[in-house]
Amino acid sequence: MKDVIDFLRANLQKPVVLVGMMGSGKTHVGGKLASKLELPFFDSDKIVEEKAGCSVSEIFEKFGEDKFRAAEKRAVLETILAGGCVLATGGGAVLDDETRSAIRDSAISIWLKTDIAESLRRMEKNDDRPLLKGDDREKILRDLMEKRAPYYAQADIQIETGASGVEKTLESLIKALYAHVRMGSV
Ligand code: S3P
Repeated sequence: MKDVIDFLRANLQKPVVLVGMMGSGKTHVGGKLASKLELPFFDSDKIVEEKAGCSVSEIFEKFGEDKFRAAEKRAVLETILAGGCVLATGGGAVLDDETRSAIRDSAISIWLKTDIAESLRRMEKNDDRPLLKGDDREKILRDLMEKRAPYYAQADIQIETGASGVEKTLESLIKALYAHVRMGSV
């Protein structure tokens, strides 16, 4: 694995962008990936929260989803343009055309695929997702997934993140990233 990491550190020329549904582990896995690659890690939700001085839930409540999406788009575009990093995007970032184009043209994108039951389990004790405020969280997630799956599927790399744990996911992701970068460099 050391050779693989060394290769990636030397040859990765684009930022790595993680996409996927809430609860897919983008922040957790992204942070670990960044530290392996010795790159800075960013999370678009955090960037938006820091700029706004309040939480994502408060932004949805006070200003509405459209304003949040506009701020999210700025955060993603600016981070991708700055390059040299790992970025975890919010689950809905791919809905925006310009964001998708920037990810496609200027980043290596990875879809962390998680089934609905596992996502729900991971977010069980968590109520900071404004879109999940409803009685039937499973249906909400299913509906969102149906709409978003075609966009997530445009990612360069797809990684299944089952219940097997973050280290396993990270290992598969690093191997897939290595294969992707190697293909581009031969
Ligand atoms: C959202 C996902 C959240 C956050 C916001 C909206 C979505 O980010 O951006 O609550 O539309 O799926 P995570 O995917 O990091 O939970």
